[in-house]
Amino acid sequence: MQVSQKAAPCGAEITNVDLTQQLSSEQVTKIRQAWLKHHVLVFPEQEISVQDLARFTLYFGNFGEDPFFNPIDAHKNISAIRRDADEKTSLFAENWHTDWSFQPKPPIGTCLYGITIPPQGGDTLFANQHKAYDELPRELKDRIENLTAIHSAASGYSPDGIYSENKVENEHRSMDIVISEEARRTHTHPLIRPHTETGMPAIYSTAGYIERFEEISEKESKELLKELYRYQGSEQFVYRHQWQPNMLVMWDNRSVLHKATGGYAGFDRLLYRTTISQFD
Ligand code: SIN
Repeated sequence: MQVSQKAAPCGAEITNVDLTQQLSSEQVTKIRQAWLKHHVLVFPEQEISVQDLARFTLYFGNFGEDPFFNPIDAHKNISAIRRDADEKTSLFAENWHTDWSFQPKPPIGTCLYGITIPPQGGDTLFANQHKAYDELPRELKDRIENLTAIHSAASGYSPDGIYSENKVENEHRSMDIVISEEARRTHTHPLIRPHTETGMPAIYSTAGYIERFEEISEKESKELLKELYRYQGSEQFVYRHQWQPNMLVMWDNRSVLHKATGGYAGFDRLLYRTTISQFD
């Protein structure tokens, strides 16, 4: 198995491994070490089934809970990130985020497998939040070091969230999103959160799932979230991932933010996704 670091602030490509086959414990350990070091792993040319994707996911943790997507028919723990060629809805996951950060135990990782990939556009961006923390200007670091962030999924998945079926622009959305009052539930995490395995500090999550901070006013929170959002997604932290069909990408939600990009109107895009929760 070969691990080749990307010329980017995060990311590595893994080759010479066949994900249709069971992996040895040595291979799993090597992949986990590479994942902790590079935060985003890319496995090109893997023609895998849903069972292969599920087996691969379970080498790294349990299945995460995906409260706001219905799963695909073929597997109860796999969901589809899908956009049809003629779709006019707003792009899904267009803003920086880390998956399900509003949960008490958010997924440590996510796997995304490319099935139908448009000939242009549809890249996924990843921003390294350990590097973002390390390079924080002193003054900003002092302001955010001890803040507690209040997270919820309300802005996305509540009845007045951006994906709500009550909005005209969401008519005919191809993705199977679940809108629910449950999305208004809140949960706190420290804004600067040590990685649960490496202990390395990262700026955890961002505006969107973070509603506000406990220690400062709503107005101050809003301003700070805007300022941080711009900083967290700065060019110097970003790896732009270009997809190919049969490519599997696995990222560490404790270390990076990610976002989808458009630019493929007129073409279908379909990827299968699992989330990984920490082993009990
Ligand atoms: C996601 O945020 O899970 C989807 C990313 C993408 O569609 O590129």
